[in-house]
Amino acid sequence: MNITLKNGIYGKANTKAHLFEKVRKSFKILLEKLHQILRFRRLCKMPEKTTVSVIKCDVGSLAGHHTVPKPLLDIGEKSLKKAQKSGLINSHYVFHAGDDLELLMVHEKGENNPEIHKLAWDTFLEATEKAKSLKLYGAGQDILRTAFSGNVRGMGPGVAEMEIEERGSDPFVVFAADKTEPGAFNYPMFKIFADPSNTAGLVIDPGMAGGFKFEVLDVMENKKVVLKCPEEMYDLIALIGTPGRYVVSHVWRARDDLICAATSTTKLSLIAGKYVGKDDPVSIVRAQYGLPALGEILVPFMHTYFVEGWMRGSHWGPLMPVGLKDSKCTAFDGPPRIVALGFQVSHGKIASDDSGDPLISDLFDDPAFDLARREAVEYAVALRRMGEFEPARLSAEIMEYTTLPKVLEKLKDKFVKAES
Ligand code: 13P
Ligand code: 13P
Ligand code: MG
Ligand code: MG
Repeated sequence: MNITLKNGIYGKANTKAHLFEKVRKSFKILLEKLHQILRFRRLCKMPEKTTVSVIKCDVGSLAGHHTVPKPLLDIGEKSLKKAQKSGLINSHYVFHAGDDLELLMVHEKGENNPEIHKLAWDTFLEATEKAKSLKLYGAGQDILRTAFSGNVRGMGPGVAEMEIEERGSDPFVVFAADKTEPGAFNYPMFKIFADPSNTAGLVIDPGMAGGFKFEVLDVMENKKVVLKCPEEMYDLIALIGTPGRYVVSHVWRARDDLICAATSTTKLSLIAGKYVGKDDPVSIVRAQYGLPALGEILVPFMHTYFVEGWMRGSHWGPLMPVGLKDSKCTAFDGPPRIVALGFQVSHGKIASDDSGDPLISDLFDDPAFDLARREAVEYAVALRRMGEFEPARLSAEIMEYTTLPKVLEKLKDKFVKAES
């Protein structure tokens, strides 16, 4: 009897296990089928939505406002590598523009995603701690707020983000500049997307017929306007010719509203209420297939042009395009520099080599920009000969938002009424 009972118990257990195994197998097959359907829809029907985010911050630098040393870059790399492993982001590249730590992340979470912004914020906080422990210069310089509430905008770090529907092939350029402000991109953005003597495609590529739309942000009054080129080109220039106030924040292709460019717009002095360091902007630009060619995006940088920033954020200086190896500011804390990285966005990632390293081209590391670099040095020397006399120094009107109020406060009792 005992044996029968034993067999009975085992028999029941066997049936249960068998049933469980059957259910498990069917569930697995169902899941696989579902996965296949989703993958199929994604590959064949649904456009792939991918986001490119560049978030940057001056967390502290070596020997003055000069460069980001390796221990801080290592923190950025370690943090983004972990996020990539966990599946939060699909690709990353950590680099620096002068003394600004730059985090390039490609993911599928969309723009202004709290998890992505928190990843950047936490990375900057960790790097700040390291900078403090090494007594680096200006540790945590751009960390202007402490309580993070889902988005780094308005807290100090600069952000450029672009959610795209991937095209058959999607070439990208990321620009990052040091010792200048977001309006520094106005001039090249205008040339790239509106000037036919810069961009041959505006004349000869039917894909660009209809021109481009520019979103311009008034950073002083926090309002924006969209202007379409070629029709509203003169109005556009009237605004963005004042780069300290009007900033090109987005560009779309007019005929189908395809997003082409996104730029960071943070003005640190407006957040802090005083000069705390320059904004040092980033920008994301898409290339080719009915958009400006890579070469049309880079050609404005064959010459230097003047930007606001440089020493103490208070001077006009020539912007110098440089490769990553020269991404450091020296003379008079400059000249202001810009780096450019080229890459392809592919299936939610940056196209990578077989070991998973992103394929990144250091675009200004090229003799084609030697002339611009030489011009930048020559103009820098000419401006520096003028010392603190305008136009070498920024106008009083612009200085009002930075250092001039302090000087005026100091002198207020010395001013006397002048005879008329
Ligand atoms: P390729 O013929 O090399 O693709 O170049 C075309 C082009 O438009 C270059 O600007
Ligand atoms: P950063 O904004 O790059 O830190 O430079 C500040 C400065 O005052 C340089 O002279
Ligand atoms: Mg700095
Ligand atoms: Mg900087």
